[in-house]
Amino acid sequence: MLQPELIDTPGAMRAWSEAHRLAGRRVGFVPTMGALHDGHLALVDEAREHADVVVVSVFVNPLQFDVRADFDRYPRPIDDDLAACAAAGVDAVYAPTAGAMYPAGFQTHVEPGPLADRLEGEHRPGHFRGVTTVVTKLFAAVRPHVAVFGQKDAQQLAIIRRMTLDLDLGIEIVGLPTVREADGVAMSSRNRRLSPDQRRAAICVSQGLRAAERLLHDGTIDAPSLLAATTAVVDREALARLEHVALVDPDTLDPVDEVHATALLLIAAWFGEIRLIDNLLIRPR
Ligand code: PAF
Repeated sequence: MLQPELIDTPGAMRAWSEAHRLAGRRVGFVPTMGALHDGHLALVDEAREHADVVVVSVFVNPLQFDVRADFDRYPRPIDDDLAACAAAGVDAVYAPTAGAMYPAGFQTHVEPGPLADRLEGEHRPGHFRGVTTVVTKLFAAVRPHVAVFGQKDAQQLAIIRRMTLDLDLGIEIVGLPTVREADGVAMSSRNRRLSPDQRRAAICVSQGLRAAERLLHDGTIDAPSLLAATTAVVDREALARLEHVALVDPDTLDPVDEVHATALLLIAAWFGEIRLIDNLLIRPR
């Protein structure tokens, strides 16, 4: 099995990418914070469909954590991640240190627009500013032709698409549908921090989304009823604390009152100290 090249500075990353570009190869990119699971590997497979060489970045970005303890506890199984990348045929792993990404004197940020203020942004101040800043820096180092993001972070995907357009970055952004466990739970690096009981309880999140989808397919199109269907399922689960559920336009993230076309149903819920998010694109039959 070929080992991916391990690169840890922006300069070395740019040089690697530039060599492949000069050789006429398309560079595909999957940005991650590590703790790779099958959802990430599906992003890698997708990137390979669009590119000749694939780079995976592994960097737990301090700028996007609003709670310090969450950053400290974020899993960092780098050896497992490297092995998973090797098995998936990744060509290079970009794993910069925090010092290489944010050296002394760092002070410039990429400010997202109003898309970042609502939903997740209301509950995690500064989160998306941290994401747009790090993704811009990763793009500048990796210089990809195409980058693949999971639809699980639907708001992040909408913000990255907007930023790429607004800043003329010239990178194709591909969104991939959420990969789920057999019981419907969306794959997430945070799942591994759930206790066995919390992991069982977490099923209520995707079940809540599916309850609203069923109701829509039965002909109910008004947002309050659909949101109530999701809420009822999560509220029945003693180990879950619903934070928010919303029904919005997938591109603008504006709330929708009635579902006539594809709409995005998003949810965030807490299981003890672990916050899980999920979403579903729903449309009338
Ligand atoms: O989705 C993630 O894992 C992160 O937000 C990203 C895009 C790698 C930026 O740190």
